[in-house]
Amino acid sequence: MTSGSTAGLVRVCPLADIPAGEGFRFDEVVPPIAVFHTDDGEVFAIDDTCTHQDASLADGWLAGCEVECPLHASKFDLRTGQVDAPPAKVGVRAHRATVTDGEIWVELSTDAPRLPPGA
Ligand code: FES
Repeated sequence: MTSGSTAGLVRVCPLADIPAGEGFRFDEVVPPIAVFHTDDGEVFAIDDTCTHQDASLADGWLAGCEVECPLHASKFDLRTGQVDAPPAKVGVRAHRATVTDGEIWVELSTDAPRLPPGA
């Protein structure tokens, strides 16, 4: 497993470790990413830190392909990272997530992270 890198392909965990409808904060990369297993069985990965303030999106509420920030309820589209509801104005980075042999792999975006001030 690649650890502490900012680009590349990383193995996160077995899909079975993340119950459907929940998120998982993976902090072996910088910045950490949030990996979601939707109720439909899809897997998505985005940067874990909200772009509004320093909150973990893995702790947010998952509904369909959207996650709601646990702090001020901004919503982000898991497929693109774009903002669907304020107060955040800037989208998070989205990463490509795949499942191979029951393991979740994430190909990290090479875009610059969009972290909130002070994070
Ligand atoms: S910290 Fe996420 S909306 Fe404010």
